[in-house]
Parts: sequence; structure tokens; C-alpha cells
Amino acid sequence: MIQLQPVGVVHSPFAEPGSVPRYAAERANANGTIEVFPEYREGLKDLDSFSHVVLIWRFHRSDEELLTATPPYDVGMKGVFATRSPKRPNSLGLSVVELERIEDGIVHIRNFDMADGTPVLDIKPYIPDGVDADDVKLGWLEAVRPPTAVATVQEHWRRMQTNDFSYAAELLAKDFVLEWPLSNERIRGKDNFIAVNEEYPANGRWTFDVHRCVGNAREVVTDVSVSDGTIKARAITFSYVEGGVLRRQVEYWPEKYPAPKNRAHLVEPLE
Ligand SMILES: C[S@@+](CC[C@H](N)C(=O)[O-])C[C@H]1O[C@@H](n2cnc3c(N)ncnc32)[C@H](O)[C@@H]1O
Repeated sequence: MIQLQPVGVVHSPFAEPGSVPRYAAERANANGTIEVFPEYREGLKDLDSFSHVVLIWRFHRSDEELLTATPPYDVGMKGVFATRSPKRPNSLGLSVVELERIEDGIVHIRNFDMADGTPVLDIKPYIPDGVDADDVKLGWLEAVRPPTAVATVQEHWRRMQTNDFSYAAELLAKDFVLEWPLSNERIRGKDNFIAVNEEYPANGRWTFDVHRCVGNAREVVTDVSVSDGTIKARAITFSYVEGGVLRRQVEYWPEKYPAPKNRAHLVEPLE
């Protein structure tokens, strides 16, 4: 018989399991705490220099222990060990969360998926050793997971390469904003984005050669060579992605240049 004692309890803005946002990007700014019980607080010494912690916790609001689960995607039933379902043998949850600070036995955390009152069984520093992110396969999830911010931006450049700018604009949010600080121009909305790309005179088809594309859950930076066969430039673009679409881009061209007059009707000055 294994008996476990919680070392602390989660105080979370998510009052119910059902109010925990499903995707990490939607929880990115959620702040909460783990109140570590006084008899365990000595164990927190030296933890505060780590950026992330692993939490082992109990799905205390789950009432069933099942061997199959139906994930919240249209993929049918899966073996419970191929899911992170809360209804599982032993009802144990495991989460990697951001560690903000520790004060008086209270561990301040961000970006977590536990409901208020969740008992915490153990806390460990997160050490990303031994697994190369490029080697990780996500099984059945690969087909259904919303694309990452990096994948969304890679798809954006792939669509730009088709020169079908309406197709590219399908990946833009309604209130999309593109800024070109070097020419002091701002383009608002999908329609202006499409028009700027279609109307602006080019010497041939535009090509977009992506050298690097790196980012986190929401922000992605790309280094792209852009050419129409005659003009050749390399641009650094900061893209802000939310809900699988691009909301904002700030694009740095190599040099300052005056805003072209023939697209003035599609842009506004930055300052
Ligand atoms: C899919 S599970 C994954 C949990 C953990 N990251 C894991 O992999 O074990 C996360 C969901 O569990 C539910 N949940 C959170 N806290 C819970 C609790 N204390 N009892 C039961 N369900 C909970 C919420 O609905 C949350 O969205």
C-alpha cells in the first residue's frame, strides 16, 4: 500500500477543472501559487534559481480511473497511457510550469494547468537533459494539434512564395498589422496587405528564401531573403502569432528608404 502526503496545495485562478484553458499559449499569463505546507518548506531551499519546475499532483476532482480516454479532438478513443486524461489509474498529474519566485514557502508559478485546490505531491527542478527536441514524435497528436507559432510562420512564408497573397492572407488575423520601420509605413488589415503585395510593381515573381525561423509560443523571428529577380534584400521579421494566425509583424529591411508614393493609399505613417 502506497500512501502519499501532499506537500502543498495550488491556488489557481481556474476555480474548476473545466475553466483551465486547453492550450499552453492561452494560459501563458496565468499566475498562481503553490502553498507549500510548513513542514516541507525547508525542501524549497535552492530551488529559486531554476526557471521551470516539474510538479507531480493529484487530479483530486476526477472521480473515475479509466483505461481509455476520448481526447478533445475528433480522433476516437485512445489508451489512457497515450493521453494526459485526468481520468486515469492513480489520478496523477504531471506538469512543467514556469517558476517566478519563492517567498515564505509560497512558490509563484505561471503557465500551469491545475485547478484551484489541487494537491501537489512533489516539486522538482526541470532539467531538459537527454531528449533532443528534434527527436520527439507526438504520435496521434501530430495530426490534430494546432500548429505551433513557428509552424504557422513557416506556412506564411510558404504561402508568400506561391505569390497568391489572398491565400497568404488567410493566415492573418482580421486586425493584422504589418510595420516597416525602415520606410516608416504601417499596413492595417488583410485587404491592404493583399493590395500592397499585388499592386506594388515587381520585376518578376517574388521569392522568399527562409534562412532561419525561431521562436516561442507566440513570437517568431525569421531571416528571409526576398527577391523579385531584380530587387534582392534580406529582411528580419518579428511575427506575433495568436490562435493559429499572425496578428502583427514588424519587418526590418536592410536600409532606410522613403515610403513609395504609389502605395501611399494602402499605408499609414508609423510616426
Ligand atoms: C489534460 S490534463 C493534463 C495535466 C498534466 N499536465 C498532465 O499531463 O498530467 C489538464 C486538465 O486537467 C484538468 N484538471 C486540472 N486540475 C484538476 C484537478 N485538480 N482535478 C481534476 N482535473 C483537473 C483540467 O481540465 C485541465 O485542463
